[in-house]
Amino acid sequence: MIHGPNLDLLGKRQPSLYGQKTLATINALLRDVGKKSKVALTIVQSNHEGKIVDLIGKSKSRYDAILINPAAYTHTSVAIRDAVEACGLPTVEVHLTHIYAREKFRQTSLIAPVCVGQVSGFGADSYRLGLLACLTIVTPIH
Ligand code: DQA
Repeated sequence: MIHGPNLDLLGKRQPSLYGQKTLATINALLRDVGKKSKVALTIVQSNHEGKIVDLIGKSKSRYDAILINPAAYTHTSVAIRDAVEACGLPTVEVHLTHIYAREKFRQTSLIAPVCVGQVSGFGADSYRLGLLACLTIVTPIH
């Protein structure tokens, strides 16, 4: 799980938009799903594009899938898009808010086209649904 810039501020940052839950609470929710599904999770938050690119670059040999909220980099980062594409791991993009119902500049994701799919608009539950999507990809039920 990679959390992008400013997501460390969750709970304090525009709670009417992004919700009251802190990042720690969301991470606990994810760990709970991981535990119940017997899946090991590594969770990282970074405000730095290059650090996120490095993390993705090192993921291939370590993980089965990537869950990412690229936050503001969703709309700007060719570097993160290229890293996801180059790494080749199934990647699921998540957003707390419904980015297609927000400002024009948020309605384009540079990352989504190189992802398996995207979950957008369900608040903290976007993460839970995104993790379930990762599990489905790694262990399909059919
Ligand atoms: C976000 C949406 C982005 O547009 C914004 O820059 C964020 C959070 C979301 O989860 O809704 O930081 O990715």
